[in-house]
Amino acid sequence: MRKRLAVLTSGGDAPGMNAAVRAVVLVGTELGFDVVGVRSGYQGLLDADFVDLGPADVIDQIRQGGTMLGSARCPAFLTRAGRDAARRRLADARLDHLVVIGGNGSLTGARALTAPEERGEQQLAVAGIPASIDNDIGHTRLAIGVDTAMNTIVEACDKIADTAAAHDRAFIVEVMGRDCGYLAMATSVAAGADVVLFREAGKTVETLVGEVTDALADLRRKGRRRALIIKAEGVQVSAEGLKAKVDAALAERALAVETRVTVLGHIVRGGRPSATDRLVATRLGHAAVRALADGHRGVMASWSPGRLPEGASWSAADPRCALVDLDEVLAETARLIDVESPEARWRAQVFDQMGHVLRL
Ligand code: F6P
Repeated sequence: MRKRLAVLTSGGDAPGMNAAVRAVVLVGTELGFDVVGVRSGYQGLLDADFVDLGPADVIDQIRQGGTMLGSARCPAFLTRAGRDAARRRLADARLDHLVVIGGNGSLTGARALTAPEERGEQQLAVAGIPASIDNDIGHTRLAIGVDTAMNTIVEACDKIADTAAAHDRAFIVEVMGRDCGYLAMATSVAAGADVVLFREAGKTVETLVGEVTDALADLRRKGRRRALIIKAEGVQVSAEGLKAKVDAALAERALAVETRVTVLGHIVRGGRPSATDRLVATRLGHAAVRALADGHRGVMASWSPGRLPEGASWSAADPRCALVDLDEVLAETARLIDVESPEARWRAQVFDQMGHVLRL
């Protein structure tokens, strides 16, 4: 009897998810699996919304943004009853292998689905693939979608810089990332921003307002016509709230700087995946399916060039990919968001220092 493998995308979509689905289907088929797509993430598992997938269905998907399988946030899956129902649907369809492509919440679901204390005797092997523009997943250098999102933000900032210079204005540009400031940090360097604000720096709103106002005063002294302030979504004040406070501080110092706000929002999540996202997604898809075929269960394929995460093993399929236990991925993700991991501290320190040196 042929082995059967399900694949789903879950949580916020990320450019490159389709490239990962494509790789799962192509590699899975090659390794002798019947591959089944699950529509609309975990909701589709509960509804048994399955579709057979073969190479012809996915071959042109490498360049498409969004996710061909659809995605959803599924509150029912957070309950044990929901997950029991999902396991029954999988068993009924004889699906004993599953690849979950998604972010923190999706990988948490994957871990719960395959947890020995929940699944009992059911044979179910799950592999995760990190996909989230936020880059907030532990033990992977990159998640699928991050590179494209960075390119989208930099392109938007370049455009904003043109109009900012024309009108002698300061722009506060808010970028997505949920609680993680990585997109703001990295794009502030790439876009040549003047100030970057992210939650991980642990600064009060007053400090942030002071830093922005000082920077604007400094730029005026130097005769610079435009200013670009990139603010991470996770900073504890909204972009409009920050503008109001900065305007008040500028008025107090009799500095005539006109400010504007642009919230990039979901634009950052869309679009054709970059070459890097296509490459990383394809290689992670390959590594994940090979891991399942080799008998791994409950692991995430991680993008780890040159650095093996603690407790992980290298993928037999790809020397840039590691296989990390999902428990360890989730623990490291929590440390990353709480700024308790070396990686999170490194990010916060380095980008804060760069901010001062490059007048970012
Ligand atoms: O996790 C990806 C992400 O785009 C975050 O950056 C953002 O905070 C969130 O999802 C938005 O979620 P939704 O699309 O449900 O509004």
